[in-house]
Amino acid sequence: MGKPNAVAILGGGLTRDAVGKWHTTTFDDVGDNFGIIGDRLRVMAAYYLYQDNPQRLIIASGGKGQLQNIPDAPSVSEIIKNELVELGVPEAAIILEDHSRNTYQQLRALPEIMKEHDIERVSIVSNEWHLPRIRAMLEYHPVLKEFLPLTTVELIPAEKVVITHAAEFESNIIKASKSEGMKERIEREQKGVKEIMNGTYQYGPVVRKATIQDSIRIYEIRNHELVRKNSLNPKIIDFDDHDKWFRNAYFKNENICFVMEIENRVIGYCRFDRPGDAFRVSMAIDAEFHGKGLGTIFLQEGLTRMGDHHAFTAEIKMGNIPSLRLFQKNGFITYKTDDTTAYLIRRQ
Ligand SMILES: CC(C)(COP(=O)(O)OP(=O)(O)OC[C@H]1O[C@@H](n2cnc3c(N)ncnc32)[C@H](O)[C@@H]1OP(=O)(O)O)[C@@H](O)C(=O)NCCC(=O)NCCS
Repeated sequence: MGKPNAVAILGGGLTRDAVGKWHTTTFDDVGDNFGIIGDRLRVMAAYYLYQDNPQRLIIASGGKGQLQNIPDAPSVSEIIKNELVELGVPEAAIILEDHSRNTYQQLRALPEIMKEHDIERVSIVSNEWHLPRIRAMLEYHPVLKEFLPLTTVELIPAEKVVITHAAEFESNIIKASKSEGMKERIEREQKGVKEIMNGTYQYGPVVRKATIQDSIRIYEIRNHELVRKNSLNPKIIDFDDHDKWFRNAYFKNENICFVMEIENRVIGYCRFDRPGDAFRVSMAIDAEFHGKGLGTIFLQEGLTRMGDHHAFTAEIKMGNIPSLRLFQKNGFITYKTDDTTAYLIRRQ
């Protein structure tokens, strides 16, 4: 048997019905901050594609996105999975990606998933209005171009698949395509495509696991004067010592180091070290990017990826207010202080 192929659903919005149940949105729902989406069609299309070929895996992609600040909100991928299971897709055929916050991050997550599950080709299913921006990202973004080349990807319009399999949806789809909301959405998408092509598109940050090649950027960030000033060990570190430590610390055991990238440049790290029962968290953002909310996004995402079943600790230099706020906002409490350090814990 050859390598499996997969259908990837790039999730959109979620909404809650009258009894509080979360579901993906139809053209009758509000959609996201930019209006109607109709992302339920993506789930339906993936289901029909799966029915046509049950050898396929389905990648359900989407974190909490715009629902990040609603405490009990599920991730988009979780709801997509539930809806697929309700339609009859076995859970074992569904792979979840629940960290991404936007289309770009969804695409960036795919190569790693494909590698992990030995997937050769992926069919990305999304709404017709969304596909030109996806195609432009795959064509123009330097990293996507290399790791998700268009030769390994097929772009499938959800509307076409749904109409082919269930003609009763056609009139509703045509009506939505002519609505004012959809016209505005398409204009916004066209603007996005232009920006991608002329290099002005704001892709936003990506969080990924560090590789050995990240050693030098992590060293530079760690050794910056402002970061050292807030560090419990403010000494300048020699690169060779750093590199030896980094290679030993993160690729041979349970310790994990994530990096945050903006425009393909690493701008921060968040390390989870396991000296005992709990993971000790230690992070820094390139001084140029402080105070823009990136530390908050990064720590939240790092903790989500590590999962709720661990306890976490952090040691923060007394007087390092941004860091203290950041950790407290993410459920850490101070259990001890001494002259130099506040000791924090977040229990599982
Ligand atoms: C700590 C650090 C990672 C925070 O990253 P960041 O991207 O600047 O953080 P954010 O912009 O998300 O802000 C986090 C909180 O700190 C507050 N903050 C940011 N800069 C601040 C400043 N100069 N003074 C006071 N508060 C500040 C923010 O307002 C925010 O709190 P709020 O959400 O309640 O408003 C970053 O400052 C850093 O790398 N510091 C050096 C290394 C370090 O101290 N690491 C922590 C030890 S583990």
